[in-house]
Amino acid sequence: MRYMSSKFIDHETDVLIIGAGGAGMRAAISAFDSGSRVTILSKSLLGKAHTVMAEGGIAAALANVDSKDSWEVHFADTIEEGVYISNYRMAELLAREAPERVRELEEYGALFDRTPEGTIMQRAFGAHTYRRLCHVGDRTGLEIIRTLEDQILHRDIKFFDELYVTKLLKEGNRVVGAIGLKLNTGDFYVFNSKTVVVSTGGCGRIYKVTSNSWESTGDGLGLAYEAGAELMDMEMIQFHPTGMVFPPGVKGLLVTEGVRGEGGILLNSQGERFMERYSPKKMELDARDIVARANYAEIMAGRATPHGGVYLDITHKGADFIKRKLPSMYKQYMDFAGVDITKEKMEVAPTVHYQMGGIQVDPETTATNVPGLFASGEVASGLHGANRLGGNSLADILVFGKRSGDGASAYAKSVSMGKIDEAEVSREIERVESLVGKEGINPHSIASKLEDAMSELVGIIRNEENLSKALGIILELKDTSKKSAVQGSLKYNKGLLQVLELQSMLTAAEAIVKGAIERKESRGAHARSDYPKKNPDMRKNIIYKKGENGMKIEWREVPAMPEELKKLVNPEEY
Ligand code: FUM
Repeated sequence: MRYMSSKFIDHETDVLIIGAGGAGMRAAISAFDSGSRVTILSKSLLGKAHTVMAEGGIAAALANVDSKDSWEVHFADTIEEGVYISNYRMAELLAREAPERVRELEEYGALFDRTPEGTIMQRAFGAHTYRRLCHVGDRTGLEIIRTLEDQILHRDIKFFDELYVTKLLKEGNRVVGAIGLKLNTGDFYVFNSKTVVVSTGGCGRIYKVTSNSWESTGDGLGLAYEAGAELMDMEMIQFHPTGMVFPPGVKGLLVTEGVRGEGGILLNSQGERFMERYSPKKMELDARDIVARANYAEIMAGRATPHGGVYLDITHKGADFIKRKLPSMYKQYMDFAGVDITKEKMEVAPTVHYQMGGIQVDPETTATNVPGLFASGEVASGLHGANRLGGNSLADILVFGKRSGDGASAYAKSVSMGKIDEAEVSREIERVESLVGKEGINPHSIASKLEDAMSELVGIIRNEENLSKALGIILELKDTSKKSAVQGSLKYNKGLLQVLELQSMLTAAEAIVKGAIERKESRGAHARSDYPKKNPDMRKNIIYKKGENGMKIEWREVPAMPEELKKLVNPEEY
């Protein structure tokens, strides 16, 4: 092929995986092992995915510590936490298959913490009935990535890092590849593939205060949406109760729920253990939305710490225990804040942590509504409903990462290679080239206004007036972003990357706000001060789709749960 003046490289594969976090890597392994040629693309370096920032553990009902645990209880906890809008089949698959995926990870070489009997250790986490989180200190995500990366490197899987995909390529309705810019060379790469898996993670970076790393700009959401995929439950954004509050450079950084799981308690500036008022039974280990809103309420009521948070105290457990169980937390507070958490209380506040919504997928294969396109991990929706249990995201990336690799590989075997439309490729290269080497509106100023609007107007408690204001700002920023451009060239151009990321960030923000306006009730992570109660008529999913005149949204029934599963959950919800 010959496109414009730019250098470009062609590549052909059976399964193209966009994203090299836990879900993408797990998908790559199963697609390769089932006989497909596999290629992974990542906008950052191999091993540097947002998954490494996951700390507290993988939820899996191994019953090593609490012998009464079972997949049925894990299933019921997941459905309850999702406030009955989760896809029941995804929750069932997760609960049934997570133990096998954890054992497999161990066989791959992951070194979990151990019980005295030598089995995998499991810790308590919020709203899990039993101690269920398999962990490696407080560095579980890092161990997952290290282990999966090792597996990838021992297989003939092609890998392109620092490559940003700008568009999915289609033949008719089917996705047949992708085009991307290699950020460190400025070359364009055109991938022709029988099938594409999107595993790009979440969109937390559209908020100012977030636990998410710089990669989490909703790239896969935007790519899939532009290609015609349905998004679902986008209004559901999870605030983690405990992020760092100072120094400013690390504001929002995750303070693992493992601290509370290991016995940490929350206190306000008056020394009061305030969870007694909000959740006397479960206390600090209630669901994330409840603990996050309690922290927020204390801060808003004027009982905040000097840096505007609440206290998280684990000093009573002693230095040896803390350094052994929570080594990263010890180091994080010591290095960044000069606080010794074995002797002093931490200051924490809610931080944007996770998108429950995302691309709508089939539970068995993770296929989207667009032929040839699959999605797994945080970018996919369905499993978590209105709220996610801690530890279910790491289980999700293993269970549904594998399923998307299997699903995509099976699909690839059933089709011949699709044809790339050269004119479409030329147009896309031309578009990207047109964004550099000229004056334009600074993408950073647009991103910054977006983060401000999301944090101030679409926060932990929402209302119509603020949401409408936010929507106005987002739509204006969408217009402005069309005039965004940067100086310099295609190579190593951080500004250009931001121009490209903006499109997906704005799509994600528009969906979140439109859905939040539409959902006139409070359910799970979506709390509205003007509609404080749950409305049974809204026990439905919201679907978002690109239409001729912009984003269309519609309500859709939650798939009906079979009778044998209904017996495991609260019948009053039906
Ligand atoms: O608190 C944590 O360690 C986070 C875990 C999760 O979001 O699953």
